[in-house]
Amino acid sequence: MQGFQLFEHAATVPTRSYNTKEWQRGYRSLKEEHNYWIEEIEGEIPTELNGTLFRNGPGLLDINGERVQHPFDGDGMISAIAFHNGRAHYRNRFVKTEGYLAEQKAGKILYRGVFGTQKSGGWLANAFDTRIKNIANTQVLYWGGKLLALWEAAEPHRLDPKTLETLGLEYFDGELSKGAPFAAHPWIDPSSKFDDGKPCLVNFSIKAGLSFTISIYELDLDGKIIRHHDYPVPGFAFIHDFAITPNYCIFFQNPVAFNPLPFLAGLRSAGECIKFRPDQPTKVLIIPRDPAIKSKPQVLETPSGFVFHHANAFEQDGEIVLDSICYDSLPAVESGADYRETDFDVIAPGQLWRFRMNLESGTVDRELLEARCCEFPFVHPAKAGRQHRYVYLAAAHAESGNAPHQAIIKVDVESGERKLCSFAPDGYVSEPVFVPRAKASESGLYTEVQGAEDDGWLIAVVFDVKRDRSFTAIVDAKDLSIVAKLHLKHHIPYGLHGSFTPAVFE
Ligand code: CO
Repeated sequence: MQGFQLFEHAATVPTRSYNTKEWQRGYRSLKEEHNYWIEEIEGEIPTELNGTLFRNGPGLLDINGERVQHPFDGDGMISAIAFHNGRAHYRNRFVKTEGYLAEQKAGKILYRGVFGTQKSGGWLANAFDTRIKNIANTQVLYWGGKLLALWEAAEPHRLDPKTLETLGLEYFDGELSKGAPFAAHPWIDPSSKFDDGKPCLVNFSIKAGLSFTISIYELDLDGKIIRHHDYPVPGFAFIHDFAITPNYCIFFQNPVAFNPLPFLAGLRSAGECIKFRPDQPTKVLIIPRDPAIKSKPQVLETPSGFVFHHANAFEQDGEIVLDSICYDSLPAVESGADYRETDFDVIAPGQLWRFRMNLESGTVDRELLEARCCEFPFVHPAKAGRQHRYVYLAAAHAESGNAPHQAIIKVDVESGERKLCSFAPDGYVSEPVFVPRAKASESGLYTEVQGAEDDGWLIAVVFDVKRDRSFTAIVDAKDLSIVAKLHLKHHIPYGLHGSFTPAVFE
């Protein structure tokens, strides 16, 4: 068994399983757009696995050789891997944003990036230029017959799901205004109590200004915004992700301060003006989803920490239980520093924590679920907002310390059992997307768990330094054995988020 051997091999890799020079090679631009059937396959693609995995991430780490200062500033590139009757097709295309087209034409950086990229010309060229490029690089989702590339600080781009051609900006029939933010972390509620049990999409936005506003948007199966409500948030709000339950939206307001002066003066990017405040608590904002409830958000506090991503939340006996990846402090974006020279040993690792918010007493308890360095959590889609048993994450090969992600970990939050599938020392792993084995419902969504919650596959893109290109790994979600490796003809720069639809777009 190929999978078993690969797994066994990984168990013998020494603790320091990565090599910084090799890891850095995954941060090169992929300039070409491809379209081909994947021929080089180890193992077999399960014939029950049918549908399309869409992934988004920065495809360009330079503009004509001029380096982007941080990968979060790189232009969004969509990969679509379509699985059909045991075969797989790969296609990638850049999101043809206004900024992408202008910079490709000019052959140089024209916009400032949130995380450090300054346009050429130094201080004077950047001073008072607060225009930021909508880079559409964070998430991609097929919803209501539309494929949407998401970036949290501006409106979505709509793409053709088959050709990945950029069709334009999406305003949801005018419900979103020009330039309005729309977060990159929507949840699908598999059974919305506000829609007679039909699924809906829940997303949010953070609008900055003199004060901050959280907007909550809920969309029906046709992609129409059917609920929209706004809440003012006191203080600076840097919120990337949120969680839902049947009744609530939950936000972590991380303890950070923002000094806009160096940004306005052109000296620093917006991301570099954010300072983590370890002396301040994290605020937990709990907002009812029912627009008829006109109460203020309930605000709870928990000790300082920084959260980008939540795994899932659910309601239980008057409490909201939330599993999240928490860092002791915010990895700082330092001016002029080269992200490729990251010293993993001096940065706090992300770890999986469980928070319990008691709505009656207003208290928050927290407990460490998994100490291993991990990120990009994923649960069964039908468990969104419901009690889950398994969390799947990208993780470090070693049990302790901070390191690049080279493994996939499965955490059973009921029994405490863990399973690991490591690609060390040669592989660097992206977010593992869980795909159930059972067929989707009529709506084309996985709204019910049929059989066991872990009956399905994890699909991840892995950068393979030995081949100097990437492969798509299909991993059995039960025992974390490798089912197949689909070797691509090129590398895919380290990506951010992805989603799976049972619709086949090959
Ligand atoms: Co994210």
